[in-house]
Amino acid sequence: MSNENANEKKILALEDIPGVGQKTLEKLRNAGFVDLMALATASVKELSEIVGEQTAIKLIEASRKALDIGFETAADVYERRKKVVRLTTGSKALDNLLGGGIETQAVTEFHGGFGCGKTQVGFQLAVNVQLPVSEGGLEGGCLFIDTEGTFRPERIRELAEAIGLDPDEALKNIVYARAYNTDHQILLVEKAAEIIKEKNIRLIIIDSVTSHFRAEYTGRGELAERQQKLNRHLHALQRLADVYNLAVYITNQVMARPDVLFGDPTAPVGGHVLGHFSTHRVYVRKSKSNTRIARIIDSPYLPEGEALFAITPEGIRDIE
Ligand code: GTP
Ligand code: MG
Repeated sequence: MSNENANEKKILALEDIPGVGQKTLEKLRNAGFVDLMALATASVKELSEIVGEQTAIKLIEASRKALDIGFETAADVYERRKKVVRLTTGSKALDNLLGGGIETQAVTEFHGGFGCGKTQVGFQLAVNVQLPVSEGGLEGGCLFIDTEGTFRPERIRELAEAIGLDPDEALKNIVYARAYNTDHQILLVEKAAEIIKEKNIRLIIIDSVTSHFRAEYTGRGELAERQQKLNRHLHALQRLADVYNLAVYITNQVMARPDVLFGDPTAPVGGHVLGHFSTHRVYVRKSKSNTRIARIIDSPYLPEGEALFAITPEGIRDIE
């Protein structure tokens, strides 16, 4: 069996565990458990709250067995990492900041305030991914999950034309889905495997990953639940990135927090969970007119630093 198939085996549906009733499946889904890996890595305690302790133990054991969870050697990790490729943002300065572009097998999060360019960067990546490898692309399609209704096909056409792509073809290579709430957003990611294979998807975008979570879980008492669910969602994205060697780009709007007197007043409300699971986090802020400043925030191996880029009529570019 090739390495890829062995990996693919690891994304299994909940239905693959024998003897689990529809009601239990539904409860699990509602809580954000969308595949066997989510169950296999859950704690008995958190699962017990959803399905009761006996079932929780049974589910965790069965999913671990089905997944054949074991260890990878450093050599396996090295082989997998060798396949990492990078996607250009359109700006050399921004690419350099990211170590050569947005990388596959990783989740890259851009956060920043209103109008800082998170969505525009997403549009640019959605067309750039279609470019030949020699031009910084990944020769594949994009899955665009829109939670805020800000997707603009007209703008995609402009960006495609500016880099010499046929605008009609460019639109056809972007699979679009509007997510209406957190459960729907999670479900779209759960169902993504099929479309990834069918359409040769090399980039998944969620713009924004946090807005529905914020809107639905507002009370203080719900914070822990929100973080857990978001956390599992991000895990699912990371797994897709690893298994299909694709890039994931997510956005997260930061809100000013006047209640915070010390520390960073623009700390993202998504909180530490996002920080923990996004492999690379980039904070973007506005500068003069169409210039933006990007800064790397706690990346496992990228050095800290800043880069300037511009949002031009042609798209994301270096500043003149
Ligand atoms: P929120 O989603 O509100 O948090 O903002 P965002 O970070 O997604 O910002 P977005 O990517 O929407 O960036 C908005 C900025 O991009 C605007 O201030 C414009 O300067 C620029 N922009 C948006 N659309 C166009 C366009 O069609 N042409 C050009 N030249 N610039 C655009
Ligand atoms: Mg936006």
